[in-house]
Amino acid sequence: MQQKARIWGKGSSCRAGGLTFLPQITQIFQLICADFSRALCASLASYRSTFAPNPFQEISVNLRSISEISVKKIAVSRFYNALMQGNYDAIIIGAGAAGMFCAARAGQRGRRVLLIDHAEKLGEKIRISGGGRCNFTNIHASPANFLSQNPHFCRSALARYTPNDFIKLVAKHRIGYHEKTLGQLFCDESSQQIIDMLVDECKAGKVDFLHPATVQSIEKNDRFRVNTSRGEFSAEKLVVATGGLSIPATGATGFGYEIAKQFEITVTPLRAGLVPLALDAPEMERYGMLSGVAFETIAHAAPREVSAKKKTERVNFREAALLTHRGLSGPAVLQISNYWNAGDEVVFDLLCGRDANDWLAELRARRPIVTSFAKALADVIPQRLAEAWAHAHIPATARDKSLADWNKTELANVARELNAWALKPSGTLGYKKAEVTLGGVDTRKLSQQTLEAKRVAGLHFIGEVVDVTGWLGGYNFQWAWASAAACAESI
Ligand code: FDA
Repeated sequence: MQQKARIWGKGSSCRAGGLTFLPQITQIFQLICADFSRALCASLASYRSTFAPNPFQEISVNLRSISEISVKKIAVSRFYNALMQGNYDAIIIGAGAAGMFCAARAGQRGRRVLLIDHAEKLGEKIRISGGGRCNFTNIHASPANFLSQNPHFCRSALARYTPNDFIKLVAKHRIGYHEKTLGQLFCDESSQQIIDMLVDECKAGKVDFLHPATVQSIEKNDRFRVNTSRGEFSAEKLVVATGGLSIPATGATGFGYEIAKQFEITVTPLRAGLVPLALDAPEMERYGMLSGVAFETIAHAAPREVSAKKKTERVNFREAALLTHRGLSGPAVLQISNYWNAGDEVVFDLLCGRDANDWLAELRARRPIVTSFAKALADVIPQRLAEAWAHAHIPATARDKSLADWNKTELANVARELNAWALKPSGTLGYKKAEVTLGGVDTRKLSQQTLEAKRVAGLHFIGEVVDVTGWLGGYNFQWAWASAAACAESI
């Protein structure tokens, strides 16, 4: 049972559960369990640095539910030492997916962990993820599903903590889940269950939470000294788990990148990923009225001119795309947004891999004769899109003719467009609408086994703040769990 010590004022004596115990500190603290004492340490240290820099100054403490505290002897000297210095084995900044998981695992290995977050509510991104049901992993996760300047970097962590490991944990906590599509596992009920599970795991690891608290400065001598709005704490290890920049309203900041820069660790260029794309006015005039129309497609992003070699390397996604009042969205578009660079086209195969020449030949051979191309196309994509697309792509000369009367050029042009309908987005909708941040702490500067900075002993970066970004579909959480587990093993 983890307790929070609440400091409620100053006085001439220090009281616990109605008992006055300073200066008889030894007697009383021998009756306090380790969990509790650490919570108390954190609070007292925080209190002391703010109001009572003199360690012998009297303070008043209200110990709530003292009857629930199990009786366990602890060394008073250790307690007193911690009280005076706010000492931990590890301090983790960022209590999101990676931070909480790392704290729980390190704590369960016996490490004394302090988890700091500036947010009032923990795990906000988990809460809003997967439409409120958290797509917490993907059973097919492999290094091929991740983008990074070093695509091999994620291998070790992903291999050591697999989707199956996380599924076992979810099952242990009796959280119902289901596969929605393409290996994506979602909670049956609510994302809150994953947050509660992480908090319970942290409790099992006797992790101390400090939130909301702002980190004001970090220094490193023999230990890391973290100065916060609620006092100074020190630890041998510092883990940065502050995530990326997307959805600032959830508490996202670029603080992790700043910490990297403070320690002269490079950060690769950052940009919004898994993000809807905007279309220019002319495209919106053609397709804007179709906002809300979704279609199955195979999509990829590419510069207009791509070499044959590049073509074989490009990544295609077969999923639904969605036309919106701003441009393009839906899973297929979010996926390719990770591969899209300014100036690139987004290319849709409306026939999902079927050769359009064959399809047109079959239509032309059909009896009775196919008179309306748009009607035939409506068998493949939604009718409103079929009509708008036919209007935009079939020249007026061909539009009124039966398909059987189209000439070779008309057929070839339409076939090409059907298999590769290219649109040129004007940009992304930015971090406000993005699910992730591409780029991050340079993986060349980190150990792939421990996520520790090669040049700064004891400094680790985990989760999204690192230059490892997953596809849509549970991959980003799997990276958060796997990188956290790898780090926790080493701290
Ligand atoms: P995360 O963002 O989870 O945590 C970072 C923590 O650091 C936060 O608690 C924040 O408050 C804290 N912090 C930031 N700055 C700080 C500072 N200066 N001081 C102190 N604390 C600070 N992925 C997936 O696999 N499946 C899914 O279903 C979804 N769905 C989804 C929906 C939406 C709308 C978004 C925006 C994102 C997703 N994702 C997702 C992505 C997933 O949420 C993301 O990759 C992980 O949460 C990353 O975990 P981290 O722990 O690295 O960062």
